Amino acid sequence: MPEHGPAAAWPGHRLTLLPAGWQLPVPAGKSLLHAAIAAGIQLPSSCRNGTCRACLARLVSGDIVYLVDWPGLLADEKAEGWILPCVASALSDLVIEAPAARQMG
Ligand code: FES
Repeated sequence: MPEHGPAAAWPGHRLTLLPAGWQLPVPAGKSLLHAAIAAGIQLPSSCRNGTCRACLARLVSGDIVYLVDWPGLLADEKAEGWILPCVASALSDLVIEAPAARQMG
């Protein structure tokens, strides 16, 4: 049984953004950036294809999958938990550090 209640309330997985603690759903196959925008949260971004690194954030917990073959990260950076939310989707509930996240509107 998931800790976060009925699946219908969370289509996909739950993303928690630190330090604010905002929580939002990540639909299967959608990027974390897409999910944030849909939830009214702005994350830094530019290219949205995994090359510019403007969206760089750190994965605190959970598992991601990349939607592109070659996200612009070094192996060392991946090992340290750095991710690119514009091309990453969720394989589990996630917690990421995104200090520049802002609520839109
Ligand atoms: S917005 Fe360019 S790498 Fe994510």
